[in-house]
Order: sequence, then structure tokens, then C-alpha cells
Amino acid sequence: MQNLHNTLITDTKCNTKGFLYEFIKPWLKEGLLTSKDSKWHQRKKLLTPAFHLNVLTNYKSIIEENCQKFVENLKELINEPKSDIAPYINDFALNSICETAMGTKLDDEDNSFGKIYKKAIYELGQYAVYRAQRVWLYPNIIFKFTDTGRKQECVLKNLSSFRDRVIENRRNYYNNPNNNIIDEINDKENNVEISGKKKMALLDLLLQAEKDGVIDANGIGEEVDTFMFGGHDTSANTLQFTMMLLANNQYAQEKLVKECNEIFGSSKRSADISDLAQMKYLECCIKESMRLYPPLPSLNRTVKQEITLGQKFAMMELKVALSALLRRYRLLPVTKPNDIIFVMDFVLRIKEPIYVKLELRSEA
Ligand code: HEM
Repeated sequence: MQNLHNTLITDTKCNTKGFLYEFIKPWLKEGLLTSKDSKWHQRKKLLTPAFHLNVLTNYKSIIEENCQKFVENLKELINEPKSDIAPYINDFALNSICETAMGTKLDDEDNSFGKIYKKAIYELGQYAVYRAQRVWLYPNIIFKFTDTGRKQECVLKNLSSFRDRVIENRRNYYNNPNNNIIDEINDKENNVEISGKKKMALLDLLLQAEKDGVIDANGIGEEVDTFMFGGHDTSANTLQFTMMLLANNQYAQEKLVKECNEIFGSSKRSADISDLAQMKYLECCIKESMRLYPPLPSLNRTVKQEITLGQKFAMMELKVALSALLRRYRLLPVTKPNDIIFVMDFVLRIKEPIYVKLELRSEA
């Protein structure tokens, strides 16, 4: 079975992008998701080492730390009759991608930006759909003078200030000779060797490529936008729908708790990579949730062979979060699958918040 990301990221038969991508280009420009041909190849080659298994193992500890904060923050919702968990999930997913891929820990000021960021990408999706449905708005020269075009410009300005801060933050760190981030990266036909004193982030590869003259500041910006969006929105969506489904299916939820008990016994320790590999039933639940509620419901590409679904970074993040959450809390139903109304977008969006109820399982 080939994994969707491997297929999309490595297979040249799948990288012809559809015309709908034009409407998200004002935002994501020509990053990995929207670029094609030689540019796509060059970027793909540059960024692949950031998702090598060794690096994912490094990312796990960061995700774990953010997950502990996430589970702790949920404490304030215990026994509330209904809770909208989306803001907690979004903070967790955004913090995780910023700290792993961008090497930047969001501070308190940036944290409040999480909500603004979420609202901004929701609005950009809506503008893109609005434009895609009106053929007369296709030319940029017309669209930019419309009310929607002006609103989009304003949202993009806000997003770029956040993105530039993330990049500057890491650039300063990277250029400081006292911070020895990576001693060596060798990618000989994907046989990647990474050694170094500090964790390597995707952004480090981009900053090194800038020094080597392979990419410029605009190129870095478009990849950071692409990965911040791709790396948080999809996992946040999956986490939210999986929690809703589990709240409505106590049998599956208890089976997951049993699986965790078998792995951890009475220990309160956090999950390591080998524990995650044992979470077979959790993996099935996550995949079933993605089948029912695919975070990116439509693919706008020319694909010449079958593709299947799954992804290592996201699966690791989702397993860490869901196992930690279920060991601590019981999820009870409020929103039912039939209550959900979807909103037309490039990604899966809902009209009303999803509510669940949280109960403490055991004293932590
Ligand atoms: C549940 C989690 C995820 C799902 C369901 C998912 C799904 C997808 C899908 C369907 C595409 C193809 C989009 C298209 O061509 O229209 C895609 C592309 C992409 N995703 Fe994900 N994704 C997930 C998580 C992630 C994460 C965690 C990252 C980064 C850390 C990421 C980065 C990307 C990138 C860069 C592309 C563009 C690849 C290319 O065109 O070469 N995704 N994803």
C-alpha cells in the first residue's frame, strides 16, 4: 500500500496541479502544494529530509510537550454541559507545526494569534470558493479591485506579518554561530544521515538553501505558508472529528482505553515511538474518521494512478494527542454526526462548532 503523501510527494505522475489551485496562489504562491514541474522537484528534494524518520523521532518529543499542555488546558472544560474543543485543538496543532517544522516556539503574543490565524485561513478559503464560482473574477486585474479582492488583500497582510515573524525568529537563531543546529545532512538517494546538537527544522533547510543561493526570501515565505497551513489544518480537523465520533461511540472509546491500559498499565509515562506502533486500534479509528470526514475532501490534480491515505507526521501527532486525551478524560456526546452542516470550501469546514462533554477518568 502506498501512502498518499509518499505518492503525492514522490511520484511525478501525480504532480500536475488543477486550475483551482490558482485561487489559493495569492496566499500559498508557488509552494510545494501549488507548484509543478522543475520547481516542484527542486523544492521536494530540498524539503524531503525534514520528514525523514530520524527527524520525526525528534519531532515526537516536541509534539508530546505540546500535547501535555493541550490535555492540561482541557481541564477547565471538565463537567461543562457542552464544550467547543476546536480552539484548544487548533492551538495544539499550530504550536506543534511551528515548533517542529519551523523551529519556533510561539510566545503568549503569538498564541493569541492562533485564533486570528484560524479565522484568516477560513476567510481565505471562502474567498477562493467565491472566486472559483464566478468566471468573470478569474483575471487578477479584475478581482483585486472587487470588495472580496480587497478583503483578501487585507487578510493576506495579517498572515504575512505572522509568517515573517516566525521566519525572522528562526533566521536569527540559525545565523547565531553559538547555536550549532546541524553538523551534517547527507541525503544520498534518500539515505538521509542527520547528526547535530540541535533539532533540525524544515525551516533550517530553507535557510541553508537561501545561504547556498538555491532559494530566496519569497521562496522561503511560500513554503512556510504551505507547511503551516498543510501541517496544522488537516490534523486539527481530524482530531476534532475523531473526538466527536468517539464521544458518540462509547464502545470504541472504551476499547481504545483498554488498548492504552495494555500498553501503559498503571504507569503515567508518556507514549514513546514503540508505544505508538502498538496503538493499532487507535490507528484504525483515526483512519476511519478520515474516511468519513476527509480533511481535504477533493483532490484537484491530474493523477494517473490510485492513491491511498495516511501520513507519518500526522499519524504520530494524532496518536500522541488522542491516547493522552483518552487516558485522562472520557468524551461524552453533545454534537451528533447528523447535526453537522458542512460549508463549501477547499478543505472540510463546518457551519457550527462541534461540542463534546469531558469527564475526568482518573485523578492525574
Ligand atoms: C490528517 C492529516 C493530513 C491529511 C489528511 C493530508 C492530506 C493531504 C492531501 C489530500 C494532499 C494533496 C492535496 C492536493 O493535491 O490537493 C496533501 C498535500 C500536502 N500535504 Fe498533507 N495532509 C495531512 C497532514 C499534513 C502534514 C502534517 C503536513 C506537514 C507537516 C502536510 C503537508 C502537505 C504538503 C506540503 C502537501 C503538498 C505536497 C505536494 O504537492 O508535493 N500534510 N495533504
